[in-house]
Amino acid sequence: MRSVGLEGKGDLGEWRDAARQLLAEHVDPQDVRFHTDGDIADLFGAMPGGLAGDVAATASLVPKAFIDAAGAAICHSDPERFSLLYRILWRLQRERDLLQGASDPDVVHLVRLIKNVRRDSHKMKAFVRFREVEGVQVGRRRFVAWFEPEHFIVCRTAGFFQRRFTDMDWLIATPKGSAAWNGLELKTSVEPAIRPEANDDTDELWRTYFANIFNPARLKIRAMQSEMPKKYWKNMPEASLIPDLIAGAERRVAEMAAREASQPQAFHERLQAAWRGKEEEERDGPGDPWLKLKRDAAACTLCPLHGQATQTVFGEGPIGAEVMFVGEQPGDREDLAGRPFVGPAGTVFDEALALAGIERDSSYVTNAVKHFKYEMRGKRRIHQKPGVGEIEHCRWWLSKELDLVRPRIVVALGASAYFALTGERKSVEDVRGYPMPMAGGRVLFVSVHPAYLLRLPDDAKRQREIARFREDMVSVERLRQVS
Ligand code: URA
Repeated sequence: MRSVGLEGKGDLGEWRDAARQLLAEHVDPQDVRFHTDGDIADLFGAMPGGLAGDVAATASLVPKAFIDAAGAAICHSDPERFSLLYRILWRLQRERDLLQGASDPDVVHLVRLIKNVRRDSHKMKAFVRFREVEGVQVGRRRFVAWFEPEHFIVCRTAGFFQRRFTDMDWLIATPKGSAAWNGLELKTSVEPAIRPEANDDTDELWRTYFANIFNPARLKIRAMQSEMPKKYWKNMPEASLIPDLIAGAERRVAEMAAREASQPQAFHERLQAAWRGKEEEERDGPGDPWLKLKRDAAACTLCPLHGQATQTVFGEGPIGAEVMFVGEQPGDREDLAGRPFVGPAGTVFDEALALAGIERDSSYVTNAVKHFKYEMRGKRRIHQKPGVGEIEHCRWWLSKELDLVRPRIVVALGASAYFALTGERKSVEDVRGYPMPMAGGRVLFVSVHPAYLLRLPDDAKRQREIARFREDMVSVERLRQVS
């Protein structure tokens, strides 16, 4: 048995020299043991006469594809890599097409090693984080990075950093070697490096950068964790943000959906619409009382909210509907569309109705306040809760709708609707989920507002609350059937 000691730190040259010698001596792969236990004295000691005379001829029998593959595979930390490569080299002397045999176990093993090394190299390019070294130099700034690769990839990956970070001096230190660039020369070493010290200023920069590019709508946690495995996190300053960003992602997506940038219509268009309504009324007579009410509401200026809203969002649904749903006020989408519950909260609402077997088209859907109240943040219109005064002003329209539609069941969605309908200010949970008598012989049923469900940051809680909301809608449907 021939014993060959190697350093085994990703240097193809040392293995190649040994392999050439072994091949020249026709040493069968089964008769060689490669090791990296530090004793390399026997590298050539056991081989009589140094390099054999026919080594060059032997080398010419090696396909270039194998040299490239071996250059990558040798960087792997698998202790079997030396024997595997020698076995393949040996077989290549007789099986010229061996590397094309995709199912050959040696080739499969080789391909796996190469893939792992490439992946590790890719991770190094993505996850090395430089930190600036303070005040040691005049002129160029100096940076250091600590990285923990799985394989001996520092030398083969260093060129990438040289090209990318030409303008600064840097050192990348790892337990499996290091690389350094000073603007003129790239130096690499396979020796384990000591973890460098650095200040924390650049950590803060990385964190800010990461938080800014993090798009919660694109978050795919599994894909992210397989791309950025946790083992790299400890050396990445921004990684400390990841759990919080993931936890907040769903809430931020919901907020993004709820506040889609919008442009209100020009003020004069709304006034013109109100005028057109008046003109039609003068031409056609009062006609349908509900249409007349809607037209009057379109020109409402009872409270200041009419000034900034695009239009009045009046209720919709058939006169005589058995159930009337009352929300709080139109949101951004409703304000633009002129219809209640057509935005994200409307989707939650529609789903709950559908699951409960309630037909939205057979119900009347309206709001306590008929104009969208918001404040501008940049180009976004951010929903603001209506005040007591605004709800009280708008109650006039709601009571007209109740008189005209005459529902048997009125469902208050949230505290603002409950206040508009009863004049009482209560927490929804105190009055939720059971029928209450109401003026006009009607039944009042209270549940939460669907937008509240969208705002819940905790995923599990949101799912529970959506389920409760859906159960409430089932209770409404039961009430409809029995009352
Ligand atoms: N929230 C409401 O209260 N009403 C709507 O129409 C939309 C969102």
